[in-house]
Amino acid sequence: MTYQTLLVEQRGAVTLVTLHRPQALNALNSQILADLLAAMAAFDADPSQGCAVITGSEKAFAAGADIKEMQAQGFADMYGHDFFAGWDRFTQTRKPIIAAVAGYALGGGCELAMMCDFILAADTAKFGQPEIKLAVSPGMGGSQRLTRAVGKAKAMEMCLTGRMMDAAEAERAGLVSRVVPTADLIDDAVKTATTIASMAPLAVKANKEMVNAAFETGLAMGVQFERRLFHALFGTEDQSEGMAAFVEKRHGVWTGK
Ligand code: HXC
Repeated sequence: MTYQTLLVEQRGAVTLVTLHRPQALNALNSQILADLLAAMAAFDADPSQGCAVITGSEKAFAAGADIKEMQAQGFADMYGHDFFAGWDRFTQTRKPIIAAVAGYALGGGCELAMMCDFILAADTAKFGQPEIKLAVSPGMGGSQRLTRAVGKAKAMEMCLTGRMMDAAEAERAGLVSRVVPTADLIDDAVKTATTIASMAPLAVKANKEMVNAAFETGLAMGVQFERRLFHALFGTEDQSEGMAAFVEKRHGVWTGK
């Protein structure tokens, strides 16, 4: 399958998706959204694939939603078509997605990175929500996900001033899981994704769901949700295999059942 705005390749069990609109620093237009939704649906449906990596170029992961596409729109267009609602489907991908960010991740680019399950950052990465400078605001979840990731003080400062956060600050603030040298970013991300893809698939889905539940529920409900999914994993063949393999001092071989 080929896409107008993406390069997609499979590296073993890892789907590597490269945003590819270099002329616009990977600004997220409707075509990128359509291509990403199709690529993620194909990834989710392919049993040979266990984890995805989304990356951009060395200069820009993505410099935002496409300002030129939005420029002429009015309230009726935006509200009437529920502009950006399609991105909710991206977050419904059930297998894990790692954002591998080098360079600018601004506005919608930062929001896309935060819609992924975690962010690995190159030392050149820069995160920001500069929409205020365009007299608008985040529209793909940034005000919510950034606040949950880094807390109110930094999120509010970034949304109100448009200030960018560099990779070191993003790691200190908990926005990214790790910072790596730019030259190692893709290899590190693919290696991390390969590790995830080597785990029992149902357990991977359950772990993703329960961590994400922490964003949606209070503590008692979240802990109960975790425990119920944990119980459910004891109904899988892979749980029997995983525990037997540990006791027999060998690696587990998963059936995905
Ligand atoms: C459309 C964009 C773009 C964007 C860059 N380009 N960002 N096109 N939408 N978000 C285009 C430029 O117009 C230019 O095209 C080309 O990419 C290269 O960009 P330059 O500005 O020339 O590069 P540089 O000087 O290196 O500056 C890089 C930059 C700057 C700092 C990242 O491009 C920038 O500030 N971009 C906008 C960042 C931003 O405001 N993002 C938030 C968008 S709103 P040409 O044709 O001139 O060569 C958003 C909101 C979502 O995401 C929800 C609410 C609406």
